[in-house]
Amino acid sequence: MQLLIIGSLGGQIGAASRIAMARGAKVSHSEDIAKGLQVLRSGQSPDLVMIDATLSVADLISALESERISVPVVACGTGTDADVAVRAIKAGAEEYVPLPPNPELIAAILTAVVEEDHNIVHADGKTANLLKLAEQIAPSDASVLITGASGTGKELMARYIHGKSRRADKRFVAVNCAAIPDNLLESELFGHEKGAFTGAVARRIGKFEEANGGTLLLDEISEMDPRMQAKLLRAIQEREIDRVGGRQPVKVDVRILATSNRDLRQEVSQGNFREDLYFRLNVVNLVVPPLRERVEDIGVLATYFVKKYAKANGVEPRPLSPEAQRLLRQYEWPGNVRELENAAHRAVLLSTGPEIGSEAFGLVERAAGPLAAKDGTATAPPASQASAGDTAAGEQRGSGLVGRTVSDVERELIIDTLHHCLGNRTHAASILGISIRTLRNKLKQYVEQGFAVPMPGEGERSAA
Ligand SMILES: Nc1ncnc2c1ncn2[C@@H]1O[C@H](COP(=O)(O)OP(=O)(O)OP(=O)(O)O)[C@@H](O)[C@H]1O
Ligand SMILES: [Mg+2]
Repeated sequence: MQLLIIGSLGGQIGAASRIAMARGAKVSHSEDIAKGLQVLRSGQSPDLVMIDATLSVADLISALESERISVPVVACGTGTDADVAVRAIKAGAEEYVPLPPNPELIAAILTAVVEEDHNIVHADGKTANLLKLAEQIAPSDASVLITGASGTGKELMARYIHGKSRRADKRFVAVNCAAIPDNLLESELFGHEKGAFTGAVARRIGKFEEANGGTLLLDEISEMDPRMQAKLLRAIQEREIDRVGGRQPVKVDVRILATSNRDLRQEVSQGNFREDLYFRLNVVNLVVPPLRERVEDIGVLATYFVKKYAKANGVEPRPLSPEAQRLLRQYEWPGNVRELENAAHRAVLLSTGPEIGSEAFGLVERAAGPLAAKDGTATAPPASQASAGDTAAGEQRGSGLVGRTVSDVERELIIDTLHHCLGNRTHAASILGISIRTLRNKLKQYVEQGFAVPMPGEGERSAA
């Protein structure tokens, strides 16, 4: 990942950069907002911007908005000045990091922004076959449509194809079509010229040009609006793009990969997705199967994630108990590999003792729901409630929650998780799948409402 630091960070740049680089980030630095904006326009788009909170965060955010550049911004400032933090967050910063930089906090933010680990861990024959197919088609310049349920590893597969392609030493640029508002996507993909719209104070290079010579991943392509679909089709067919406000087209050489967790053919038949674009993208279709259909992957993935998160949290890696291994194989995994990763992370933090037991995964108690005993066998999938941020949680079926309000259940989940994490906000936020800022805001609200909120270092270990 690439990190751009703007400002001097109160003299702590060195420390912050070292922490970021130790996590595998590439770090660049601009002295002020104007220079930072030049970098952002130039087509070397960072994954994250860290700005010194003594600079005007509001100016940076409004420049990004008016120039239609979408990138997460984190403000950094001296820890004691609460006003600065509040102002930075109000101005639109995603997080506030107090200085001197707290390694744990910076690591959590970097991990939240981007996952740099691109290993495809597997043991199941189905996955092996899929990788073989991917390798076979990688060297061609054909577009590939990668489909599969949420959390199955589609983006990872796209990186794998790029890595095995002739373009491997060129850039891999990913654009999440679902995350970028419709009105910003055109500028994001194609860039714009100075004066193209109010706020376009300088030329900006878009993702197509940034990926020139390399690979462009259009993630969650089904979410692209029809107007943009037409422009994208033209760009792919003509191998040229029009910058917004540009006078002449610009030639580009990019290999297009796209992902979708919806059935694109069905989107076509419902009139939501252009058929001609579908055919352009779907030269080859790779279908990533849900985790429950590749059971042999589960054990190796669980072990891999347990090791990874033990290391990240500075604890000794421990083996999974045989009971835990059995449970993991039986569980349905509606959130697929992402859910398994979250569950393993939680298990690492919650388990005590020489082995990681099944209870630490937080899946056992959910097997007690009415549907779990449906066919009277132990293999009935427990309802999933992997994490608050997980879409799989929407599949929670028939437990004792009916009749309670969302805010009640949410408060209980948050406070319980915080107890489990001994009051550690960073760990709790990462388990809950919400930002530290959101967590802090909620906790503040609970305290105001008179609820007891565990402080760092407090709490109990119920999973012992
Ligand atoms: N085979 C695997 N080995 C290691 N990690 C994996 C594997 N498959 C998926 N993951 C991890 O699981 C998470 C989800 O993967 P990824 O983002 O590629 O899925 P996705 O299908 O794009 O999900 P979504 O539909 O939610 O965007 C990532 O953290 C990824 O690193
Ligand atoms: Mg994805």
